Amino acid sequence: MEEKQVKRRMVVLVPVPAQGHVTPMMQLGKALHLKGFSITVVQTQYNRVSSSKDFSDFHFLTIPGSLTESDFKNLGALPFLLKLNQVCEASFKQCLSQLLHEQGDDDIACVVYDEYMYFSQPAAMEFQLPSAVFSTTSATALVCRSVLSKVNAAAFLIDMKDPETQDKVFPGMDPLRYKDLPTSAFGPLESIIKLYNNAVNIQTASAVIINSASCLESSSLARLQRELQVLVYPIGPLHIAASAPSSLLEEDRSCVEWLNKQKSSSVIYISLGSLALTQTKEMLEMAWGLSNSNQPFLWVIRPGSVPGSEWTESLPVEFSKLVLERGYIVKWAPQMEVLRHPAVGGFWSHCGWNSTLESIGEGVPMICRPFTGDQRVNARYLESVWRIGVLLEGELDKGTVESSVKRLTVDEEGADMRKRAIDLKEKLEASVRSGGSSSSSLDDFVNSLKMKNSM
Ligand code: UDX
Repeated sequence: MEEKQVKRRMVVLVPVPAQGHVTPMMQLGKALHLKGFSITVVQTQYNRVSSSKDFSDFHFLTIPGSLTESDFKNLGALPFLLKLNQVCEASFKQCLSQLLHEQGDDDIACVVYDEYMYFSQPAAMEFQLPSAVFSTTSATALVCRSVLSKVNAAAFLIDMKDPETQDKVFPGMDPLRYKDLPTSAFGPLESIIKLYNNAVNIQTASAVIINSASCLESSSLARLQRELQVLVYPIGPLHIAASAPSSLLEEDRSCVEWLNKQKSSSVIYISLGSLALTQTKEMLEMAWGLSNSNQPFLWVIRPGSVPGSEWTESLPVEFSKLVLERGYIVKWAPQMEVLRHPAVGGFWSHCGWNSTLESIGEGVPMICRPFTGDQRVNARYLESVWRIGVLLEGELDKGTVESSVKRLTVDEEGADMRKRAIDLKEKLEASVRSGGSSSSSLDDFVNSLKMKNSM
């Protein structure tokens, strides 16, 4: 009998063009594709995901006239994002109109856009398409952004400049202190509050999807559900639910061969994600602290991440000799494979939400050195809620680096953190298994899309 091909309904995805946002959006695409939807990814001209074999079933569209790599370099991250939202609104409408023309009115099930790509919302409304906001950070960080979007910027700035206030718990956000709130290293407070205001203003979307799980932050999720006017779906961690390799930089896999030669749980893996910067002084303290710790290390130094240097030229010659004996430096690593490797005993991280989930997902305890935004929230939670991280604050010196590495990889304290991390790993795995909280939440979201006109 001839098999009838059922046409898949389409989900349109709009990711922010940055690694930490592209990765979870592509994972969400995989998860929704597995549930029977076709996936169209609408991208800007900067940081496009290649339509490689991993995404051969996806369609990719580029928004014409959107900003480019040189705009990012000239403007900086925060103004870039604000401007991107201005310039893309009209051209995204054209893209959607074209898609509707090709697909037919009923065939777009939903437009899922990153919280920071809020230019997508007016287009979805104009064409009366269901839409959902995808928040790629933790639920707690989203609660913080919602709170910050309502503060008086001038008064808050005065509070933030007072060292005593900085150490106080922010009202209603225990254990987060003023200094843990997601302000930005990439622009002035007024701009970040403006961005949060635009992004959190989500009443017109039908749902909020979050890459998190109730076993990690049930009270923040409950608070979000109370405060936002729409349904909140915690469906993470997506990297366990639906892996989707989408590295924008080339991964150096030679470090895995190096890891193969190291003792179990001995290596400290250092990576500060795709945007964080390290000043030369701090980099040197890290280098000498690592040297004095006597532990093997794998260090990702992204070209351009040390202002004033191309790559590693500011490291002293003596350190280069040590690297040959006890360390390994790469420009970009296959992070998931590294964290999964039995030789890795700890992860020194900027605590981006993806890195945080990936580390917990492999039961690896962390040294937390947040750089900006939600990373501070994650670092505080790693240290004092989940108790699987050592938080490094203030100016860094080699003595603190040495003792933190030993606390994590040699001392009993590190072993206890590892046990708690493994316990969380098991809970995360259970949450994305059939019947688990995140798996059920994804099913609920999918069912809401399948019920036509229900959103
Ligand atoms: C940023 C923010 O820091 C983060 O908090 C926010 O949630 C998203 O945007 P980023 O700095 O890129 O993200 O950090 P992170 O969220 O940790 O994402 C980095 C991704 O790059 C991870 O998925 C990680 O596996 C990958 N990576 C990192 C590599 O594949 N190789 C590396 O060497 C380093």
